[in-house]
Amino acid sequence: MTQDELKQAVARAARDYVADRLPVGAILGVGTGSTANFFIDEIASIKDRLGGTIASSAATAKRLEGHGIRVLDLNDIEAIGIYVDGADEIDASMAMVKGGGGALTREKIVAAVAGTFVCICDATKRVKTMGGFPLPVEVIPMARAYVSRELTKLGGTPKLREGMVTDNGNLILDVHGLSITDPVGLEERINQIVGVVTNGLFAQRGADVLLLATADGVQTHVRPGR
Ligand code: A5P
Repeated sequence: MTQDELKQAVARAARDYVADRLPVGAILGVGTGSTANFFIDEIASIKDRLGGTIASSAATAKRLEGHGIRVLDLNDIEAIGIYVDGADEIDASMAMVKGGGGALTREKIVAAVAGTFVCICDATKRVKTMGGFPLPVEVIPMARAYVSRELTKLGGTPKLREGMVTDNGNLILDVHGLSITDPVGLEERINQIVGVVTNGLFAQRGADVLLLATADGVQTHVRPGR
């Protein structure tokens, strides 16, 4: 199977998950990236069951609206039943690295509000130790050089993502060379650097459910203790 076929398969499984578990009229959070795009195309068939969606990026909002799916303002709603999004890496504790598409801050906000976070990805994203994928950090532009120096002290090599301005008007530093053995601690530590908006570690609020596309089918993993 090609990687696109795996993404398509997991997107279909996520649509079925939502159709089975999200009450009719409830709000769905929708992620960003190529896997999320397959999911958006799939949920066009169940749009009449949805009370509306919350988009984690401008690109996602545009794609949803292209299918005639209603996109709401997060400030106008109180709860998101399920949030479906991809990841760049995910470990056994269901902590993730996200932000390859640069939408990490809005994704983290949607994740914070969501009742259930469903991560959808193919098996290449499942890793023992995260850090192989450079960790994205969204920074206020005037703090770029200071934050870079602070990230270097933590053992990483930050590189400015050229040509990238986030939906919030900020920059992305991709931190190479980290071996993330304490995802919760590192997420907190980086977020304490003044000038950081947030970082792409989703460990304090990781995934609740992982739908993992493999050549043998889509596996469902549930976070231990949930
Ligand atoms: C977007 O900012 C990211 O968090 C994506 O969820 C992540 O990069 C996965 O993207 P793909 O599905 O394109 O691999």
